[in-house]
Amino acid sequence: MLETITDLSVLRERVRQWKREGHRVGFVPTMGNLHAGHYSLVMLARQYADRVVSSVFVNPTQFGPNEDFTRYPRTVETDKTGLEGAGCDVLWLPTVESMYPFGVELASNVHVPGVSSVLEGEFRPGHFDGVCTVVSRLFNQVQPDVAAFGKKDYQQLAVVRQLVTDLAFPIEIIGGSIVREADGLAMSSRNQYLGAEERPRAAEIHRTLLDLRDGWSAGRPRAEIEAAASGRLAKAGFAVDYATIRRPDLSEPADGEKGAKVALIAARLGRTRLIDNLEF
Ligand code: PAF
Repeated sequence: MLETITDLSVLRERVRQWKREGHRVGFVPTMGNLHAGHYSLVMLARQYADRVVSSVFVNPTQFGPNEDFTRYPRTVETDKTGLEGAGCDVLWLPTVESMYPFGVELASNVHVPGVSSVLEGEFRPGHFDGVCTVVSRLFNQVQPDVAAFGKKDYQQLAVVRQLVTDLAFPIEIIGGSIVREADGLAMSSRNQYLGAEERPRAAEIHRTLLDLRDGWSAGRPRAEIEAAASGRLAKAGFAVDYATIRRPDLSEPADGEKGAKVALIAARLGRTRLIDNLEF
């Protein structure tokens, strides 16, 4: 039975009680409007923990001034049903006031340098500061032993790993696989912004990621593969922020370099900005 908690002292007591009983606590932070990708994270967290907390909080500090904070879909009642089905024990539903007791303007800010500054960091300045700030607060509120983050937000996962190591949070971070629609489109709450005509075209992102991987595996120069990928997306009507191949730490690989790589794309289709990636 899912318990919804909106008071921090109640949350702390529940987690303390579980820990007294010897339970390991898992955590899945979300912004709500949950889909199969989120539920797979809850199920993943369950594999590492005896009790699972998930939070739903649309965090104002990670949205830029012209981004979709106000129209971000809020569907908490449906989310509750899904979380219960996925085996979540507690839904932590903080208010903006409890998350930012001194107000958003006076909030302490957590900045992770380096990995935050490239790719999403270039196109969404301040985004990862907002993410790291709220994730730090959520970690301190929930005090989990393990936390699960989706690999769809590949860079976010890298940033959170650095945050946890650097600030010595005693939390194991696990990455959950991307969950895709039948045509390859990565599941995302933002997919519902897509118009009926845009939706089938959105799968072009996944096909382009496969092209990036295949081009690299065939030994073609990175600049050439990336230009072709951007061209393919532009032809399908996307405004491309980046289509690139990186090392797992998001640094730029030399042509022909061996070892694990990741292809990443961020592109806008109409008013919808989509991101996706493929590890290989
Ligand atoms: O990935 C998200 O949904 C958000 O960035 C997170 C981690 C819940 C922080 O607000």
